[in-house]
Amino acid sequence: MNVKEILDKAYNTHKLSKDEIKLLLTLEGEERQLLFDLADRTRQKYVGDDVFLRGLIEFSSYCKNDCFYCGLRRSNTEAQRYRMQEEEIVEVARRAYEMGYRTVVLQSGEDPYYTRERMCSIIRKIKEEVDVAITLSIGERPYEDYKAFRQVGADRYLMRFETSNKELYQKLHPGMSFENRIECLKWIKSLGYELGTGFLIGLPGQTVDDLANDILLVCELDADMVGIGPFIPHPQTPLKDAHEGSVDITLKCIAILRLLLPDSNIPATTALGTLDPLGRQKGLKCGANIVMPNVNDLDYKLKYELYPGKICINEDATKCRGCIESIIISLGRRVGQGYGQSRHYRAKK
Ligand code: 5AD
Ligand code: FES
Repeated sequence: MNVKEILDKAYNTHKLSKDEIKLLLTLEGEERQLLFDLADRTRQKYVGDDVFLRGLIEFSSYCKNDCFYCGLRRSNTEAQRYRMQEEEIVEVARRAYEMGYRTVVLQSGEDPYYTRERMCSIIRKIKEEVDVAITLSIGERPYEDYKAFRQVGADRYLMRFETSNKELYQKLHPGMSFENRIECLKWIKSLGYELGTGFLIGLPGQTVDDLANDILLVCELDADMVGIGPFIPHPQTPLKDAHEGSVDITLKCIAILRLLLPDSNIPATTALGTLDPLGRQKGLKCGANIVMPNVNDLDYKLKYELYPGKICINEDATKCRGCIESIIISLGRRVGQGYGQSRHYRAKK
């Protein structure tokens, strides 16, 4: 099949073989633009022009893991650590609501300080006091924890598998297991959460074949949300001298994922905006329909350093909100109102 036929097939059937995905990942020039335009049309047809905003609350920068790429890894003794207490987290959620957010994402390193009881209490309190959907992004937990969080009102869960290449996964995540991560994602799905997963682009040793497998794994897990972003080397990690991930390939992955999962939510990620000043705009033009601005105070933002150079780090949360809104308007889109539940999730209910 030629490129046009593959694109037609993707548009009409939302299915592609691994070889077809690999071919799309290598497109250049006009053909690349055809892919982006088709993804943009698919986005328009299935999820419309609304761009939903999620208020990201990074509530703890402690992490018990040691991922090779991540600035929060426990071996990074120079990382600045903080933990927010319940009242403060609820307060930030309230502020996010007042700024117009209807989803908050509670994210942290894997921090055992937040026991099942503490997390449940935080979730319950936000649900009682603030009218928002809650997305958790706190890593791997026992089944019983996921179940308890869901019971007290958590709506969604984000956890990237990072790479589908098991060998690479094991190399980059000492002491962790790929199987356990996938099992966690399946538990999360089975508990009725909206499931978000995804991967990193440009990890050292990652191939185009791996990326095609990553895309297929997202489909196999039937993700309601897909977060992908370029790897950005952090100076205090073992990967400090590695090359950063490619913006171009990230955009192609977004576009292909939009074709394969037409009604899922796909963010234009902060990492994409960090490597290219127009990265988020480009993402929104080739399939993405979500942006996740940080709503924390400046001092916390500075300390939550997954990778260096993060955009918006010196902006006040209100300013960020305004800035993003003008980006959305300038693209001829509008800010989504309401919780912005994944249509993919809704369709299956
Ligand atoms: N570059 C880009 N993304 C990173 N993440 C962690 N470290 C980095 C980095 N150096 C991503 C991981 C994680 C998400 C919260 O942040 O994919 O799942
Ligand atoms: Fe924190 Fe990987 S270093 S989850």
